Amino acid sequence: MVVETQVADDGVTTPHGGQEWRQCKNFIEDFSVTTNGMGPPEKALAAAKAAVESIDHYPPANFEPHLSHLAEFLWGEEADLYKNCLQLGNGASELIDLVVRSCAVVGAWRPGPTMAQYEEYKRSSEAAGFYRVAANDNSANLLCMVNPTNPTGDYMKVEELKAYIENNCKAGSVVIVDESMQPWVGPHWREDSLVSQGKWRQAMSIEKGVEVFVMHSWTKIWACTGVRLGSVIAPTAGHMEMIKAKQVPWSVNCVALAFLSAAVKDQEYLETTWRNTALWRKNVVKELNKYFPSWQCIGEPFLSWVWIDTGDELVAAKAVEVAKQHGTPVRWGKPGYKLPTYVRIAVRDEETTEYLIDAWKEAFLGDERRSRAV
Ligand SMILES: Cc1ncc(COP(=O)(O)O)c(C=O)c1O
Repeated sequence: MVVETQVADDGVTTPHGGQEWRQCKNFIEDFSVTTNGMGPPEKALAAAKAAVESIDHYPPANFEPHLSHLAEFLWGEEADLYKNCLQLGNGASELIDLVVRSCAVVGAWRPGPTMAQYEEYKRSSEAAGFYRVAANDNSANLLCMVNPTNPTGDYMKVEELKAYIENNCKAGSVVIVDESMQPWVGPHWREDSLVSQGKWRQAMSIEKGVEVFVMHSWTKIWACTGVRLGSVIAPTAGHMEMIKAKQVPWSVNCVALAFLSAAVKDQEYLETTWRNTALWRKNVVKELNKYFPSWQCIGEPFLSWVWIDTGDELVAAKAVEVAKQHGTPVRWGKPGYKLPTYVRIAVRDEETTEYLIDAWKEAFLGDERRSRAV
C-alpha cells in the first residue's frame, strides 16, 4: 500500500534521501539513497526474517555474540585487541548523537574540508549546544568528517587523512571520522582506513590528546536502512565506557543483530559489490556524459552514488521533479546541503538506471519515445 503523506518533519529534522519513495504511486527504484544496488545479502535477510520469531525475548544487552562478529570482520585475528573499543548502535545516527554528547567539550564544531557533508553531524552537534565554525578553524573542540564524503565523493587516503588530523587538531579536541562508505573502496578497504590504525588512534589520544572516533553506518553497504545498524570505534576502552554509560539499553534489536552476524560472513557479497558497483557507475556516468554533456559527474569510481552538478538550479529542480514523477526519486542538493544546482543519484544496474535516464531524456531532450516508466 502506498500512503500519500508527508514523509518528514520539514524544517525540524534534517533533510535526507530515502523518504520520498513512499509518495511515488508508480515507484520503480529509490535513486535518492547511497545504498548498495545489489539489495541486502540474501543470507542476512533470511537470518533477519528468522529472528522475528524471537521478538518475545530481549536482545542481549551487551549485543554479544554479534558485537564480536563485527570485531572479527573489522580486525580478523586482532579482534580481541580492539573489541572493547567497539559498540553497536541503532544506525550510525544514534552513535553520532552519543559520541557528540558524551565525549566532546561543548564549544565550536567544524565539518571536514569538503563543500558539503552528511548533515546529521550538524544536527547532533548543534542540538548538544555546539556552534559551527569554518572547516579551517583549528580552535574547534569537535571535528566531524565524512570520508569518503557523502555527498561530494571526495576521498582522502589513509596517510593523507592521518596527516590532516595530526596537523589540524588541537590537544583536547575530538574528531569523528565517518567511514560508512569506505567498504566500497575494494578488497583493501580496511588497510586504507582508520580501522587498521588502532595504534595510531591510541597514540593520538595518549600522546597528543586528540580523541579520534571512527563511525560506520552499516545500512549502506548491506542495503538495510530499515533495520538500523551502525557502529563506532572509540580511541580507548575508557572512551567506550563513557559512550556506553549514556546509551539507551537494547537499542539494536534482535532482527538487526541477526542480520549483522550473517552479513559479516558473506565475503562473496562484498566481492560482487565491488565488481558490480564499479561497472554500474561507469555505465551511468557514460550515459549522463552522452546525453547531458554539460552536467558534471563527480566522485570516485568505486562509490555507490554519483554527485552531479547540472550547473543550473532550474535544471536540477526539474531533474528532481521528473525523477519523482517517474517513480525513480533522486536526492536534490538544495535541502540541507544548500547546493541547488546539484543532484545525487544512486548507482544501480544498467536496466534500472535506464528508467531514470529515459525519463530525463524525455523531459530535457524532447525525446519522442515515451519513458518506460510511464
Ligand atoms: C555518511 C553517513 N553516515 C551516517 C549515516 C547514517 O546512517 P544510519 O543511521 O542509517 O546508520 C548516513 C546515512 O545516510 C551517511 O550517509
